[in-house]
Amino acid sequence: MAPATFQALRGTRDILSPDSERHRALVDVFAEQARLAGYGHIMSPIFEELGVFQRLGDSTDVVSKEMYAFEDRDGSMIALRPELTASVVRAFVQHRPDSLPWKAWYEGPQFRHEKPQAGRYRQFSQVGIEVLGSDDPFIDVEVIALGWRFYEALGMSQVSLLLNSLGDATCRPPYHEALETYLRDRFDDLSEQSQATLEKNPLRVLDSKRREDAAIIADAPLMVDHLSPETAEHFAVVRAGLEALEIPYEISPRLVRGLDYYTRTTFEFASTALENAQNAVGGGGRYDGLAESLGGKPTPGIGFALGVDRILLACDAEDVFAAPTTAPDVFIVDLTGGTEALALADQLRQAGIAADRGFDGRSMRAQMKVADRSAAPWAVLVGEDEVAAGTVTIRDMHGDTGQVSVPRADLAATLKNRLHR
Ligand code: HAM
Repeated sequence: MAPATFQALRGTRDILSPDSERHRALVDVFAEQARLAGYGHIMSPIFEELGVFQRLGDSTDVVSKEMYAFEDRDGSMIALRPELTASVVRAFVQHRPDSLPWKAWYEGPQFRHEKPQAGRYRQFSQVGIEVLGSDDPFIDVEVIALGWRFYEALGMSQVSLLLNSLGDATCRPPYHEALETYLRDRFDDLSEQSQATLEKNPLRVLDSKRREDAAIIADAPLMVDHLSPETAEHFAVVRAGLEALEIPYEISPRLVRGLDYYTRTTFEFASTALENAQNAVGGGGRYDGLAESLGGKPTPGIGFALGVDRILLACDAEDVFAAPTTAPDVFIVDLTGGTEALALADQLRQAGIAADRGFDGRSMRAQMKVADRSAAPWAVLVGEDEVAAGTVTIRDMHGDTGQVSVPRADLAATLKNRLHR
């Protein structure tokens, strides 16, 4: 009986070249934006103690329904990270960096047991930043601007920035109460799901997309109308900062976001080139209470995460940020059957020239076909005559300069010259 074959699990994908190169190129663009703004790279573990993520709030789907949590071999409960903010704040509390604000950027896979569909996966990738130790509203602006400039750097232009303030520890509780009273008065008209959500967190009802809830949500009291004078002022400075940088935004007073830790400034980046359901290409905000809830000193924090998979879908829709070329600079065609191609490829690679070659002692015709398919702009041909003369033949695969014979010792320099012309 033939052995069973396997496929990648539902909601997970193999990302093969050249898509994988495009993914890496995107991370490189992000890393550069982060470096320019003074962020250090953080690499934290993919799994953590379950408790780290439980601090994100159990009224959120991410924690209560979607977490890959399991018992480790020693009986302790651990989870694959569903997001990175909790891990980064855990790392901040653990290492207590002494220079504040502490700015970190990251990239990597996250895991959520969601219903897979286009743009929604169980393993997906994010790039993001977190800043701990400052509540200067200009940090909020800097963070949002970094995301905005990153999309621009990719060539995206169909992105909108949705902005809200979720209040703070002084103004949120009375607003919560007002909202809860309002919703309880209309309890029977709410959808069953929203009735259940109301018990856990009234604010999350505003996130409901159910038709039954639409009218009630439309008239619900809004946090932006209940901000304390300090929070309203903070929000005003954030808006003024965005205006100073000419970054357009839309106030979105019902923007709640899918995690419970947010306070004050919250935002989402939506791609208007994508279908509504999965058009959030990034989101973030302040989480001024998270460090404390993870056992640290009270420390304000803000950051965002952007979904790499979705951004690439949006780039496809906008026809920007194409996959980088994976063609080698040169393809070596060896007719000697000896070690010529081996030595030439090694020599060229050491000189920084991307060189590929044929294998399995194929005919010249067959090797030229592979050379063609590789899309290399140059082929290097070596046969017995060339070996005897100490030369190789360089053939222009795409242009019309034909082929020339060059001394073997000059090969790397000649190719470099031609490649950079
Ligand atoms: P989030 O909104 O849950 O926020 O995720 C950020 C982005 O990750 C989303 O806008 C989306 O682009 C992408 N994303 C989320 N779930 C999936 C999925 N199942 N498949 C594909 N892409 C997905 C956070 O994760 C927060 N940690 C952001 C943050 C950082 N807030 C403050 N600092």
